[in-house]
Amino acid sequence: MAKYVVVGGRKLEGRVAVGGAKNAALKHMAAALLGDGTTTLSNVPNIEDVKTMAEVLARLGMAVEFTDHQVTITPGSTLHNEAPYELVRRMRASVIVLGPLVARLGAARVALPGGCNIGSRKIDLHIAGLEALGTRITVGHGYIEAETDGLCGTNIFLDFPSVGATENLLMAACLAKGRTLIENAAREPEIADLADFLNQMGARISGAGTSEIEIEGVSKLSGAEHHVIPDRIEAGTFMTAAAISRGHVVLEGARAENLGMIIAKLRECGVEVETIDGRIIVDATRNKLHGIDISTLPYPGFATDMQPQFMALLATAKGTSFMTENVFESRFMFVDELIRMGADIRTEDHQARIKGVPRLSGAPVRAPDLRAGAALVIAGLSADGITEIGDIHHIDRGYEGFDEKLRSLGAEISRVGEKETNHLTAVG
Ligand code: EPZ
Repeated sequence: MAKYVVVGGRKLEGRVAVGGAKNAALKHMAAALLGDGTTTLSNVPNIEDVKTMAEVLARLGMAVEFTDHQVTITPGSTLHNEAPYELVRRMRASVIVLGPLVARLGAARVALPGGCNIGSRKIDLHIAGLEALGTRITVGHGYIEAETDGLCGTNIFLDFPSVGATENLLMAACLAKGRTLIENAAREPEIADLADFLNQMGARISGAGTSEIEIEGVSKLSGAEHHVIPDRIEAGTFMTAAAISRGHVVLEGARAENLGMIIAKLRECGVEVETIDGRIIVDATRNKLHGIDISTLPYPGFATDMQPQFMALLATAKGTSFMTENVFESRFMFVDELIRMGADIRTEDHQARIKGVPRLSGAPVRAPDLRAGAALVIAGLSADGITEIGDIHHIDRGYEGFDEKLRSLGAEISRVGEKETNHLTAVG
């Protein structure tokens, strides 16, 4: 199994380009199920999750081509309505095909995604919303079966602004009869981008990006062309990497307006961040970094997907920080790995107290999930000696060329098989 080997102590310096947003591209691909014609998406990241979504769509009868950050999706002559366990298990975001399938085919059979390493990840809000739109749903034997004689627009109030539920309902409502209002909708930029894409397909959506989304149903949608927005979490990950290495990095292609809370929190702990002509400049060379408090919240609050990377950063900042995780119930599983690297962190329920240490120490660790994996790599960048990160298939799911991009900034990181790891020596 491949692993990353990081030799700590190099300051990151230079420019890095941010790719397309994973959590937008995956949903746009599912939305292609709603259209009659060919959809072409550009700026799609070349990552494992996108390949899995391509497999899901192919299984449903769509022809999918993925070359050079462009995905072309064309409906085949017969569409199938079943997303099997073997694919949903690999990527729980596959459940996003439920809404489009019901809307398009009147029936869907999708494996229950189950929990994962960050929480139990319920889908009750997806189900309640689809039922309100006129779907009969039964859950049993590990599958959700959904059927409708025709979706009808209605008012839906989400108990929690779930990203996936908002997206599933938004897509289903596009082909429902009449008007749907989703209240307490998630406001993530990826949802606004999905609505832009759906509107290009012929949908009539307003308010996406706010907590009230209105959808006037239409009888059919066509294919469309769309350029996926930049990945704010990839951007935030490189900003945190620059900060932990006490380096100076320029991000190209990121949207500062989608990174408000991340920029604010970096500045609060002493990192200088400037935005000039579409570039974001992160400079951690001048100030001493100090501890701060962070609570994760749905957008525009501090992103739960940036919590592990900031934990790594705060583990090296002077003083005490508190991190409160409000979105997922078990997103502190990687903390034990950071502690093995010398971090001084205590967790209780959904809160962590982090006491900064002068330097982390390199150690062999395992990535329990995507963002925690990225956080452990980042921790390794600043650690004394060598950090070996195993289970990096989690990182491959969501970061394209993570090691290449870090190397281009001066990091000493290599991707190796088990046998090769012994040849590396610690420097610095
Ligand atoms: C999306 O997951 C993202 N995934 C996650 O990114 C991200 O962490 C999350 O939104 C929050 O921002 C994709 O877009 C593919 P939710 P999603 O529904 O849609 C509870 C990454 O690393 N909930 O907003 O699954 C749920 O249990 C990934 O890129 C219900 O209770 O997130 C959780 O505690 C990881 N009932 C909270 O809401 C429901 O029906 C947020 O979940 C749905 C959700």
